Amino acid sequence: MIVLALESSCDETAAAILCAQRGLLASEVASQIAVHRVYGGVVPEVASRQHLTHLRPVVDAALAHAGVRREELDAVAATAGPGLATSLMIGLSAAKGLALGLQKPFLAVNHVEGHLLSPFFSGCEGTGGGPAPIPPAIGLVVSGGHTLLVDIDGFGRYRLLGQTRDDAAGEAFDKVGKLLGLPYPGGPVIDRLARGGDPARFAFPRSMLNSGDFAFSFSGLKTAVRYLLPKLPDRSEPTLADVCASFQEAVVDVLVEKTLAAARATGRTSVAVSGGVSCNSRLRARMEEACRKAGLQLRIAGAALSTDNAAMIGWVALHRLAHGLLSPLTADIDPNLRLV
Ligand code: KG4
Ligand code: ZN
Repeated sequence: MIVLALESSCDETAAAILCAQRGLLASEVASQIAVHRVYGGVVPEVASRQHLTHLRPVVDAALAHAGVRREELDAVAATAGPGLATSLMIGLSAAKGLALGLQKPFLAVNHVEGHLLSPFFSGCEGTGGGPAPIPPAIGLVVSGGHTLLVDIDGFGRYRLLGQTRDDAAGEAFDKVGKLLGLPYPGGPVIDRLARGGDPARFAFPRSMLNSGDFAFSFSGLKTAVRYLLPKLPDRSEPTLADVCASFQEAVVDVLVEKTLAAARATGRTSVAVSGGVSCNSRLRARMEEACRKAGLQLRIAGAALSTDNAAMIGWVALHRLAHGLLSPLTADIDPNLRLV
């Protein structure tokens, strides 16, 4: 069983080839970051034009890399949502066209489910041909568009525990990066600058830390950084490093605390962190330490599977195929598609 998966929900055009027996055969990502950087963020119209340009070469590269011919594909999958409408349309329409032309099953996949299950990506060895089952866990998805905590009871059995009421964690990183005059996206740059900074120099708010639920809020934190800036003694690199480290620590405190509280509340013994922000070095270190102390198993995928990619979409598609969950060719995009 060989699946081609496409991802085009935001500003990466991606294609991956997965084999139920041999695992991941190819994963290609054409990033548009350099194009959007001049605007300081993703411009939807520009993103969809870029997807149109990049999609075919990315699919051809994935097929060539995997050594697979189009006719050998057994199914075609693509992200149906959530995401930018005109970006989603490009990948979903292409996948439907390929599936129709090849007369093969089509699968419309939820992007957030892709992130959520990416830490469990393990190939398919020793499972008798299907993907390895998804074990129970607390899932934390932290990306540029999403911040949510999910109680996972196996594939397709998800309970939303809480999500952000305003900005996503990655959005907060990117907006603070913009305030500090850093290049887009701010997340990786703040991570790098923060390594030389003092996380205790500025006391930023830990919004909703003690709210007693699993909701998040990061817009107040961004505003706190904004109000601090005119009061800074200077904008030297050491000062900016302290701002970055203090901001990052506030985000990480809340993410780690709430994730562990969710594990305690549900009795889950495993935690899976995913999405672009899971690349953050401080979040990884603090989450590792906290899980070790609490006796929880922690899974975080490598960077290539954490930021937007098509392998995670293909991974969900393999599970859907194993469960017989095919999509009709009439399936449409849904920019606000919910996980549950
Ligand atoms: O998952 P992703 O590629 O796209 C979405 O689905 O949103 O996540 C992108 C987000 C951006 O906000 C980016 O700044 C953030 O992930 N990010 C990071 C790091 N690497 C990527 N944030 C903090 N630290 C990082 N090292
Ligand atoms: Zn994403």
